[in-house]
Amino acid sequence: MDQHQLKQAVAAAAVEYTLTRIDSDSIVGIGTGSTANCFIDLLSEHKEKFQAAVASSEASAERLRRLGVVVIELNAAPEVTIYIDGADEANPHLELIKGGGAALTREKIVTAVANEFVCIADESKWVDFLGTFPLPVEVIPMARSYVARELVKLGGDPVWREGVVTDNGNQILDVHHLYPMASARVLEEQINQITGVVTNGLFARKPADVLFLATQQGIVTHRAPA
Ligand code: 5RP
Repeated sequence: MDQHQLKQAVAAAAVEYTLTRIDSDSIVGIGTGSTANCFIDLLSEHKEKFQAAVASSEASAERLRRLGVVVIELNAAPEVTIYIDGADEANPHLELIKGGGAALTREKIVTAVANEFVCIADESKWVDFLGTFPLPVEVIPMARSYVARELVKLGGDPVWREGVVTDNGNQILDVHHLYPMASARVLEEQINQITGVVTNGLFARKPADVLFLATQQGIVTHRAPA
């Protein structure tokens, strides 16, 4: 299977799982990216089985609406039953790097609200240690250079993702050379303490609860260590 077929396979597995977790009152959280898009396309065939979706980006919200899924604002959702999203890297603790699609802040917000966070990825995303994928950091535009200097002090090599404006009107710094990351949780907190940072793409303080990983041998399910 090529990478796209792996993404479709893991999306199909995640739809099956989601159907066992939701009912007609459920709000389903939906992520962003090509794997999430495969999930959206398949989940839309079951749109009558849940009340509505909340999306982590304008792009996903638009795709959902085009397929006839009701999309509501997160503020209108009393709770989010389950959140399904992709990742750029995942380690055995189910800590993630996300934000390759620049949607990290909304992704982290929906993750915070959701009762269960399910990550879906193909095997290329599985790593022993995070940090080969440059870590996205969303910054308030006027703070970009200051935040970049502070990130250098933390050992990183930030590069401005020029031309990209997030759904929140902010900018992205991609931080290179953080591999191998000793403690993703500590680094997540350190970066979020820098004034001008909105958030960073480490999902370690709240990792995934479940990871469905598509491999050439089939779908492997990983659960967060107790
Ligand atoms: C978007 C994300 C995506 O989940 C991540 O970039 C993975 O994308 P893809 O499924 O296209 O490989 O975090 O901000």
